Amino acid sequence: MTVETYTYLLYAWIATGIIAFPFLLKKTAPYGRHTTEGWGPMISNQWGWVIQEGVAPIFISFWFFTGSLEKTTASYFFYGLYVLHYVYRSYIFPFRTRTQGKKIPLVICGSAVFFNFCNTFILGYYLGNIGGNYGNEFFYSPLFIIGFIVFVLGVFINVKSDNMLINLRQPGESGYKIPTGFLFNYISCPNHFGEIIEWTGYAIMFGALPGWSFPLWTFVNLVPRTLDHHKWYHQKFPDYPKERKAVIPFVL
Ligand SMILES: NC(=O)c1ccc[n+]([C@@H]2O[C@H](COP(=O)([O-])OP(=O)(O)OC[C@H]3O[C@@H](n4cnc5c(N)ncnc54)[C@H](OP(=O)(O)O)[C@@H]3O)[C@@H](O)[C@H]2O)c1
Repeated sequence: MTVETYTYLLYAWIATGIIAFPFLLKKTAPYGRHTTEGWGPMISNQWGWVIQEGVAPIFISFWFFTGSLEKTTASYFFYGLYVLHYVYRSYIFPFRTRTQGKKIPLVICGSAVFFNFCNTFILGYYLGNIGGNYGNEFFYSPLFIIGFIVFVLGVFINVKSDNMLINLRQPGESGYKIPTGFLFNYISCPNHFGEIIEWTGYAIMFGALPGWSFPLWTFVNLVPRTLDHHKWYHQKFPDYPKERKAVIPFVL
């Protein structure tokens, strides 16, 4: 594939995210607390996550290692961070959740597989064939240092918040409680907020447009989901804290 063709695909994927956003704001994604009948066959929630996210490390490894570009520590670094995140998200996170017995529509898993295919292509093909293979001086650049700090902060917020949510349930419980403490005092879904920050940090480090496509899509996926969660909390719990925002502390 020529760089020109890749660039067209990159723009098309970014444009798709921007166009999809208003539609996703209107439609509640039917998984987790929003799961409903009528979305076709369902599978176990935990195995669904393993399948839908577990393809990401495989796909990106394919694009990265079949690429002809000489690999550097920097390109291995970007590849490695992505793989680490997805190994956790696919093979560890689902088995930490207390969602035994819950189901997820197969159509959601299928769309997540497609999503991971496109995102890993944008990042992995670029790293394998086009760029991101900076020299070692990259690790001392302001772009790297700032991006890395933002990335680590995002991971911390995401993982800590997910842990707090998971621990709201005793083993065997499946209901919902009002989370409190940490950033939950300010927003309904700090786990989503942390994920957006994490990939923004990755994009700052990446220093090229392909790195921004994933945080854009993370935003497009998670802002509507956060708004749905926020609305759901208010409907479910009359005593839900009124001052708590949905997505961004003090703002939205
Ligand atoms: N990059 C992306 O585009 C993307 C897209 C989607 C998700 N993610 C990430 O994947 C992770 C999971 O996402 P998610 O949207 O499924 O998160 P979520 O709805 O907040 O749920 C996270 C876990 O906590 C449980 N939980 C949530 N709120 C609870 C409450 N009030 N009481 C008791 N248990 C509660 C959920 O159980 P139930 O499943 O039973 O509700 C689930 O096991 C997050 O870290 C998110 O950032 C990333």
